[in-house]
Amino acid sequence: MDKIVVLISGRGSNLKAICDSGLANQIACVISNNKNAAGLNIAQQYNIPSFIIQHQNYNSREEFEKSIAQVIDTYNPQFIVLAGFMRILSPWFVNKYHNQIINIHPSILPAFTGADATGDAIAYKVKLSGATVHIVTNQLDHGPILIQGIVPVLPDDTKSTLSDRILTIEHTIYPFTIRKLLMKQYTNINNIYCLTKLDTDNIYLKNLYNNIFY
Ligand code: GRF
Repeated sequence: MDKIVVLISGRGSNLKAICDSGLANQIACVISNNKNAAGLNIAQQYNIPSFIIQHQNYNSREEFEKSIAQVIDTYNPQFIVLAGFMRILSPWFVNKYHNQIINIHPSILPAFTGADATGDAIAYKVKLSGATVHIVTNQLDHGPILIQGIVPVLPDDTKSTLSDRILTIEHTIYPFTIRKLLMKQYTNINNIYCLTKLDTDNIYLKNLYNNIFY
């Protein structure tokens, strides 16, 4: 059975959504660069092995990442899922796991890349925002898009209310996309990723959420 490794730094609500969706037994392990990450408790609740690899303990990004890679390679996962992992990955790491690293970003990429996407969306006074699941490449928050979900931005939204609304869509689209990747239901033609078939899941999602695009 194909497995994933999940990298976290904090709260872990996406990790929880992935586990709750029935994918917990496909998570080989969770790696956190933050020993206080609440997401570590979620791994424990689901009996998923977890590792703490703190970047502060390494002299360089590459040494830190080599330590992460050593753990990842013991499990030989199909995909490495970034779920709120707050470290930028070096070209060495991204190239080593070419097309295997998946990220979720709280904006409709390519709008609002970077660490404060939700704050930037509020500041720009956009009317729509959302989340994007994409393949990680060497350009931050770029890379082939797998799925996007949109939500309205309301006039009285704060960063916190918008972020909560975006999170609800993240928790739907991230597990969905990971499941499809593990089921090998994506094709990659010239770096355009498409689902190979419109199955009942998709129709279900279409009816339920008119605001998810894949
Ligand atoms: C999410 O907003 C995700 O889009 C971003 O980091 C946040 C992680 O939240 N990449 P959580 O740790 O999964 O709750």
